[in-house]
Amino acid sequence: MSIRVLKDKRVLLGVTGGVAAYKAAILASRLTQVGVAVDVVLTEAATRFVAPLTFQAVTQRPVYTDLFELEVDPGSGELSIPHIALAKAADLLLIAPATGNTLAKLAHGIADNLLTNIALATPAPLLIAPAMESDMWAHPATQTNVATLTERGVTVVGPTAGHLASGAEGVGRMSEPAEILEMARVVLGQAGDLEQRRVVVSAGGTREAIDPVRFISNRSSGKMGYALALAARDRGAQVTLVTAPTSLSDPVGLKTVQVESAAQMRDAILAASSDADALVMAAAVSDYRPIEPAHQKIKKGEEGLTLQLSRTPDILAEMARLRELGRGPKIVVGFAAETQDLLVNARDKLQRKRLDLIAANDVSAADAGFSVDTNRVTLLSADGTVDALPLMSKEEVADEIWDRVCRLWETG
Ligand code: PMT
Repeated sequence: MSIRVLKDKRVLLGVTGGVAAYKAAILASRLTQVGVAVDVVLTEAATRFVAPLTFQAVTQRPVYTDLFELEVDPGSGELSIPHIALAKAADLLLIAPATGNTLAKLAHGIADNLLTNIALATPAPLLIAPAMESDMWAHPATQTNVATLTERGVTVVGPTAGHLASGAEGVGRMSEPAEILEMARVVLGQAGDLEQRRVVVSAGGTREAIDPVRFISNRSSGKMGYALALAARDRGAQVTLVTAPTSLSDPVGLKTVQVESAAQMRDAILAASSDADALVMAAAVSDYRPIEPAHQKIKKGEEGLTLQLSRTPDILAEMARLRELGRGPKIVVGFAAETQDLLVNARDKLQRKRLDLIAANDVSAADAGFSVDTNRVTLLSADGTVDALPLMSKEEVADEIWDRVCRLWETG
């Protein structure tokens, strides 16, 4: 998976002494797998839980534990001080797990080991994932330390509630590596090229009720819309994701609004879009809905069942109209899901709905469109530009679309 915000980044992973240190090895492995260079620093206590060799094996890089060990540059033969070199090189300092003791040191600027020295010396943003017993977490001293760090701009992820090392249940478990990785993306992207931008993205297939148990819907998994929302978040945007039901997990670092029907999606998008910088509609919105959904489950009869359908609101067209009145999103982008005459139909939608950009999506291809992780789209702009993109991951398609939206903002 190629995620642009992680490409060529260097993350310094600080591991402190808690049982959750084993999860830090999973985190180091995940980061390495997506192309991040991970420098690991263990406190002395952390080495009691997980051996440095584990981290060396998963990152294929040296692991650091000692403040007083000087390094020799193999090229120049010069000595360098690891905490200064590591502190300068990092794009992000991530401490996971962060014990109550380390939180206290960070809050008070105490530098008595390699990790806390790096924390004082680095200009990189700091992300911490606390893990401790619930009484330690709830203690006013810890809460004050966390508040101090948050005020200073440090991002804190977790802890979550669940089973703790002592056998008790409570708040204090380190967040799962997947969630920490998501937060790392958020923090790394904070000063990205979509910083200060407010964007709205729609995802998933709407459901139009037939009766309390049945509905009309389509094959959308939400993957394309979620990829767009996450890519915008990773580039620093404030994102509202309006999503019909999907099986995807709720993303961190953005606002998610759950809806079911086209009418609910329209209301949510209208509320979120009035002062948005862009709206991108990847949702597969039902074009028709049953006029009068039954209040009770429809019983099986001998005869066939006839449903009377009416058109749903065309959300995209309405938002583009509002934009012309100065009340809608500044840029309006749609998708065209087609099984024939791809470009002709997409161009017609672009013009009829008065969009800035449309992604023409041949949904009859096995490797593109609904449900799969890849997509192949042709981007048609209102100025007549046609850009046929090759097969890509949905994450990469999302970045291509945001690149075009950035250009549209620039050209006004
Ligand atoms: O979710 P995935 O499984 O990842 O699949 C991705 C996708 C195939 C759903 C996505 O790439 C895609 O093509 N989305 C648009 C699907 C669609 O509804 O296309 P359409 O050609 O019927 O509609 C054109 C545009 O108008 C779309 O941007 C749609 O969101 C919008 N629309 C449609 C109907 C309606 N009532 N209101 C709308 O705003």
